[in-house]
Amino acid sequence: MKGAARLRISRREGFNAAHQLSDPRLSDDENLRLYGKCVNLHGHNYLLEVVVTGAIDPATGYLMDLKRLKDLMIEQIIQHVDHRNLNTDVSWLRDRIPTAENLALAFWERLHPHLLKGSLQRVRVYETEKNWAECSESD
Ligand code: NI
Repeated sequence: MKGAARLRISRREGFNAAHQLSDPRLSDDENLRLYGKCVNLHGHNYLLEVVVTGAIDPATGYLMDLKRLKDLMIEQIIQHVDHRNLNTDVSWLRDRIPTAENLALAFWERLHPHLLKGSLQRVRVYETEKNWAECSESD
């Protein structure tokens, strides 16, 4: 509908985790060339930001109860990754090199089935204050 306003809500949750960027199929030298010092195990204070879109429920005035979104993020993602080694400790991250890009995609896949169709707008993962990766619905 032309001119209709689009509403979005967002929730942020932080987590601390360790990772190393290394492809197990490659040699140490090749990994070092690709990933530099990120081949070494190190940690980040990550931020996960999720944006949901939709219409206001006239009964509540909410698009979605942010408490529900928070609980979903914690149950589906944060409790699995906080204070973990992302290379080894998280079953649903196995076989993915834990770059911010792969985390954004994996987190999207964790949340998407639990939200109304079309309502998950984007999942953004801040690896540092300066670096983020984002996943959204493909066009
Ligand atoms: Ni890193």
